[in-house]
Amino acid sequence: MKLSEKYRDEIADILGRYPVRRSALIPLLYLAQREEGFVSEAAMKEIAGLLRLTPPQVYETATFYTMINLKRVGKFHLQVCKSLMCALAGSDTVIGWVKTKLGIGPGETTSDGLFTLSAVECLAACGTAPMMQVNEDYYERLTEDTFDRILVDLKRDGTCSLKSGPFMWPEPANAVRRET
Ligand code: FES
Repeated sequence: MKLSEKYRDEIADILGRYPVRRSALIPLLYLAQREEGFVSEAAMKEIAGLLRLTPPQVYETATFYTMINLKRVGKFHLQVCKSLMCALAGSDTVIGWVKTKLGIGPGETTSDGLFTLSAVECLAACGTAPMMQVNEDYYERLTEDTFDRILVDLKRDGTCSLKSGPFMWPEPANAVRRET
C-alpha cells in the first residue's frame, strides 16, 4: 500500500507544520523508514510527488544523512559514531569489537539478520564518547564490558537497561508556540 494511502492523516499533519512544502522532506523520509526499516526507491518517488520535487532531489537528501537507511538493516542497527570526539575516545576500538564479536564491518549485517553495523557522523553525544546508537537508543561511555553486556541483553531481551534513552528531536516551532 502506498504511504499516502496508509498514512494520509499523518502526512497531512506533517505537511501542515511547514510553510514551505519541501521542508517536510526529512520527516517524510523518516515516515517511510518507520514503515519498512529503510527508504525504498518507490517511497522516494512517492515522496517526490507529494512534495512536488524531482526524485533526484529526494535521493540526494536521503543519501546525505546517515540516519536514512537505503537498504534493509538488521533487527538491531548499531550506529557507531566516528566523528572527531568519538574517534579520539576510541570509536575505531568499538568498531573493532563489533568485528571481533559479531564478524561484521561497516555496512554489513550478521547472517542471522540480528545486527547491522554503520559508522556514522556525530550524534550529538560528544561529551560521553565513545558512543553508539542502537535503533533509537543511545549507549554512551562505552567500554568493552558494557558493549558485551549490550550485545547479550539485546540478543536475550531485545533491549538493554544501559541505554540512555532515545534521541529527542526538537519540538516543531508551532508546538513550542502553543506551549507559551
Ligand atoms: S563526536 Fe561522537 S557524538 Fe559527537
